[in-house]
Amino acid sequence: MKKIIVANLKMNLASVAETRRLLAAIGKASRRLKAVEAVFCPPFVFLGGLKDGGVKLGAQDVFWEVSGAYTGEISPTMLKKLGVKYVIIGHSERRENLGETDEMVNKKVKAALQVGLKVILCVGEKIREDGVMPPIVKEELTRDLDGITRKLARNLIIAYEPIWAIGTGKTDNPKNLVGIVIYIRRILFDFYGRMAYDMPILYGGSVNEKNAGEFLSAKGVGGLLVGGASLDSKKFIKIMSASSLK
Ligand code: PGA
Repeated sequence: MKKIIVANLKMNLASVAETRRLLAAIGKASRRLKAVEAVFCPPFVFLGGLKDGGVKLGAQDVFWEVSGAYTGEISPTMLKKLGVKYVIIGHSERRENLGETDEMVNKKVKAALQVGLKVILCVGEKIREDGVMPPIVKEELTRDLDGITRKLARNLIIAYEPIWAIGTGKTDNPKNLVGIVIYIRRILFDFYGRMAYDMPILYGGSVNEKNAGEFLSAKGVGGLLVGGASLDSKKFIKIMSASSLK
């Protein structure tokens, strides 16, 4: 299976021109890397008109209704019309800064999967506790996937993003990560049976061009969700290249 390497640009990039330059550089490199599925998630305002040459387009969030009186929101069908293929849902920055609840995340996951978008559902604990499988990961997954059928779950990707590792320079160690990936897959197994073995589980949290390789070689890891290092095309290309070596 291809490694999924996601660029989460967050609320960065200053213009359409800058967005296009970054996308073009990443796209050019990713066309050579057959073992990589690169996904580019800029802010909504820069998504329109982008062409997914070598890179799939993704959004950083989505709303759960198709249309109507929902000021400021963007619907799954709107994203589809722009050629978007992936959407990040439940990122901890949204859960923390905007009070996004599991109930909201669940509705978003359902709505996005129903129109055929691939969902990257983010879960992760706030504080590291050595040797303990984070209960919050189970709680989030259980609530966020409530009512998501097997059929819908075919387009589901889980991103394990420990909050203590996001933007901090601290990372999970690959050995620990293998354990968490098994833990997450068991939870998915309870929902989806054997299908869980084919569901990609990504790691995110201070991934950079130096540590990407060791995370990608951790057994069961299907790719990476990259924040800060995705703003620099050279670093992101090195991260993508690390996948090809695995
Ligand atoms: P980071 O962000 O790579 O800057 O830690 C990851 C994320 O929040 O998706």
